[in-house]
Amino acid sequence: QGKRDLIGKRVLVSAGGTREYLDPVRFIGNPSTGKMGLALAQAALHRGARVTLVHTPANWEVPLGVQAIPVTSAEQMHHAMVEYLANADIIVMSAAVADVKPRDYSTEKLPKRSLPEALPLEPVPDIVARLAQLKQSHQILVGFAAQSGDIVKPALEKLQNKKLDAIVANPIDKPDSGFGSDNNQAIFLDIQGRQMAIAPCSKLEMAHQLFDFLTNEF
Ligand code: C5P
Repeated sequence: QGKRDLIGKRVLVSAGGTREYLDPVRFIGNPSTGKMGLALAQAALHRGARVTLVHTPANWEVPLGVQAIPVTSAEQMHHAMVEYLANADIIVMSAAVADVKPRDYSTEKLPKRSLPEALPLEPVPDIVARLAQLKQSHQILVGFAAQSGDIVKPALEKLQNKKLDAIVANPIDKPDSGFGSDNNQAIFLDIQGRQMAIAPCSKLEMAHQLFDFLTNEF
């Protein structure tokens, strides 16, 4: 696509899965590879935006011209997203954030014999919900809802409960889409009640489709 409709806009994207460490080698994580967030950053850059990408450890390179902010835990991602929020016109929270973290952290690797049978957990902040409270009305905040089964109903609930402007309902039980795949499929929903189904396509194509969908929000 040759669209340059994001010139003068700032786009803030989060990508990847957060890691909540128990000790220096063990963590609670998820299969997110950050490819969807990377595709969003690439698409926004191609369309002329200034892009900040807050990302967890990844096996890909951040594109030249994108401001990269590496983080590991949900707490760190939270701080980074809040720090870069003020300047952003479009914020896309595509990262898969752990919902919980181990309550205790050991700076030494725990010997196998001293691993607890049950791990005490505590919640991490819901970053996108916090961003919704902090953002101004001209800023467009987009979340993701990775779901199995019926994807629309839970996504609509998240859109409303987290007070987002739009959400990407993303099936994780379809072949060749979701976590780790180069391809994806989704239904975009916004707070005005618009819905748009995106047939299976590359993550980069889907990223462009999302910016097409959001451009109508300006
Ligand atoms: O509630 P659920 O985790 O399914 O919501 C998904 C959306 O919320 C995603 O946009 C994800 O990035 C965001 N999220 C977050 N902070 C959390 C959990 C999820 O920002 N602690």
